[in-house]
Amino acid sequence: MPEVILSEIEFNSSILELRHRILHPGGPESRVLYETDKLKSAIHLIVEDKQSKEVLACGSLLPEDDDGRICTDKNRIRGMAVALSAQGQGFGNNILDKMIELTKENGIGYTWCNAREAVLPFYEKRGFKVVGNVFDVPGSGPHFKMIKIY
Ligand SMILES: CC(C)(COP(=O)(O)OP(=O)(O)OC[C@H]1O[C@@H](n2cnc3c(N)ncnc32)[C@H](O)[C@@H]1OP(=O)(O)O)[C@@H](O)C(=O)NCCC(=O)NCCS
Repeated sequence: MPEVILSEIEFNSSILELRHRILHPGGPESRVLYETDKLKSAIHLIVEDKQSKEVLACGSLLPEDDDGRICTDKNRIRGMAVALSAQGQGFGNNILDKMIELTKENGIGYTWCNAREAVLPFYEKRGFKVVGNVFDVPGSGPHFKMIKIY
């Protein structure tokens, strides 16, 4: 396993590129550029290879309420993406754990996300619960809204 560093960075093209490659390959890159990405209160986490500096995993914690409006008391996880060759090595967990830690530190009591059906266990293992029914996101399949209350 490569030696890695987890860090919080300003939004940049390496995040956009990894999101695009993993979440919506073939679609327009604009699909993975989110409206709140560049706000000061947006938090972007990456795991990078210590030696090569390649970004292996990314995830963002955005200041959005359940309707996607900018807010200060809730946050939303978006753009969780791990490079194919790096999946299953705990990097997604590293990012999710840091998100939970930062959310608690910032006194935010509620996190939500729209999770792909295939990865519900990834979030469930960290205390997220499904709310509501399955819905389809065109081009990326069935999703569930999940929330975590602290
Ligand atoms: C989903 C994803 C972010 C998980 O990151 P990862 O680094 O591969 O996962 P980890 O190695 O940290 O595993 C975390 C836990 O989730 C589970 N998990 C990871 N991916 C899973 C999957 N596809 N299905 C079910 N469980 C999964 C693992 O078993 C592991 O459990 P453990 O903590 O008990 O060992 C990553 O695989 C990915 O980018 N997948 C493709 C894009 C995607 O689906 N993103 C999420 C959109 S909502």
